[in-house]
Amino acid sequence: MSVVAVVPAAGSGQRLGAGEPKAFVPVGGVPMLVRAVDGLLASGVVDHVVVAAPAELVDRAGELLRGRPVTVLAGGADRTASVLCALGALHGVGDPNGVHTGDERPGPPVGDGSAVEVVLVHDAARPLTPPALVMAVVEAVRAGHRAVIPVLPVADTIKRVDEDGDVVATVDRSVLRAVQTPQGFAPELLLRAHRAAAAAGAAATDDAGLVEALGETVHAVPGDPAAMKVTTPWDHRLADHLVNDAVA
Ligand code: C5P
Repeated sequence: MSVVAVVPAAGSGQRLGAGEPKAFVPVGGVPMLVRAVDGLLASGVVDHVVVAAPAELVDRAGELLRGRPVTVLAGGADRTASVLCALGALHGVGDPNGVHTGDERPGPPVGDGSAVEVVLVHDAARPLTPPALVMAVVEAVRAGHRAVIPVLPVADTIKRVDEDGDVVATVDRSVLRAVQTPQGFAPELLLRAHRAAAAAGAAATDDAGLVEALGETVHAVPGDPAAMKVTTPWDHRLADHLVNDAVA
């Protein structure tokens, strides 16, 4: 029974403003997409990766990831749609015409999602995610949690603010968690959540949110600061420094 990771990498990267889609922007000289995929594979528990790339960059992503057990296909208009496109390849419900980079490891069981034991969804925008975190999420799913998310405590005080910029309330941060990826799921549950969202025209900023909408339990495990998401130029500088520190 295999573990397949879906990597949404079809974002435009507008907030990063690097002039190209974010997944292709280098961190420490290596495109974020490549770092994210290599981190998943370095865990030793991921058998295959399905990448959702911007339509015009599917071939380029395939070239960057050559030699790895990866399928690249075109993503959708938002993150939720991109993940659903990739799940289509996994379960044979969509068009699996992608670029297959080929490798000695087995490909995704297209047309037979039942052979997949765990599906991970992991943002390309989290290039420095430690392989140990990938392992921990897979372990938690294998232990019986059907939806697993890595989380971190929130350090800042959090306030709700209205449209005039006035504070409405201070939220109790002790019960809040910042959510990362990879998120891990029983394949049937993730696909059901995405199909329900697609039918309702709903989108979410993470996949666990779609599972919550079904009324199903999502289990949290400790995250890792290194799994930070690169969104702004500041995040990018920080990620670059972290890589340079690590090799210094
Ligand atoms: O925009 P944000 O940083 O929240 O995106 C999270 C991840 O979702 C990124 O890896 C991005 O490439 C991906 N994404 C996608 N398809 C979209 C929009 C975002 O795969 N249409």
